[in-house]
Amino acid sequence: MNLILLGPPGAGKGTQAKTLQDRYGIAQISTGDMLRAEVKSGSAIGNEARAIMERGDLVPDAIITAMLALRVQKPDCAGGFILDGFPRTVPQAEALDVMLGEMGLALNHVIELQVDDAALVERIAGRFTCASCGTGYHDRFKPTQQAGVCDVCGSHEFIRRADDKAETVAARLDAYHRQTAPLLPYYQAQGKLHHVDGMADMGSVAKQLAAILDAPASIA
Ligand code: AP5
Repeated sequence: MNLILLGPPGAGKGTQAKTLQDRYGIAQISTGDMLRAEVKSGSAIGNEARAIMERGDLVPDAIITAMLALRVQKPDCAGGFILDGFPRTVPQAEALDVMLGEMGLALNHVIELQVDDAALVERIAGRFTCASCGTGYHDRFKPTQQAGVCDVCGSHEFIRRADDKAETVAARLDAYHRQTAPLLPYYQAQGKLHHVDGMADMGSVAKQLAAILDAPASIA
């Protein structure tokens, strides 16, 4: 099963993609995580992407599609994958269609997580991640069980993303509405688009996703 989670910054794509990865045994592919790894390593791609990401703009399509083309060929994608943060423009979606066609693969579902802009700002402002194992948290919606200690690995170190500052979040939301929202009619026309109420709590969103993916016609 190959699917896309579509939605604005902070909608919960990464949170839900991790749950789906465990539930269905398919790979989570986050282009944001891939870019952050490039930035951290100081690679040529990372050096080009860093300033673009810190401004809240989108990295050029050619860079992203080339990265994605290599990633989907890795062995962990053989059983299927969840695209989290890709595609983000119509040219990326067109490139994905060509890529999958050449690989003899189908895109089964595109699921939009619908969340109001005001809620997104609160979600992003409160997000933090364990610096050691990468587990994601939120000051209000998903705090650690013991203050300052990661539930999973016990680390005491946490990080907040450079692009989660209020002024950058506004630019990221603007980029979503201008450049990514046109993907909704694109996938509607392909008959693949589903909508989920992303304003619900994390467990309810997971249930809505399971209802779509476990429907008999969805099993691929
Ligand atoms: P990327 O890393 O993809 O960021 P994003 O799309 O902006 O999405 P986020 O990671 O911010 O949010 P999310 O939807 O995953 O939410 P999360 O689950 O963390 O991209 C970063 C940058 O890289 C881009 O701006 C761009 O520059 C570049 N880039 C990446 N891909 C690109 C591409 N294809 N083309 C060009 N450029 C690209 O949840 C957020 C918080 O809310 C968490 O704290 C979580 O605990 C909490 N939360 C989650 N669900 C709920 C819920 N239901 N209720 C309450 N709280 C919740």
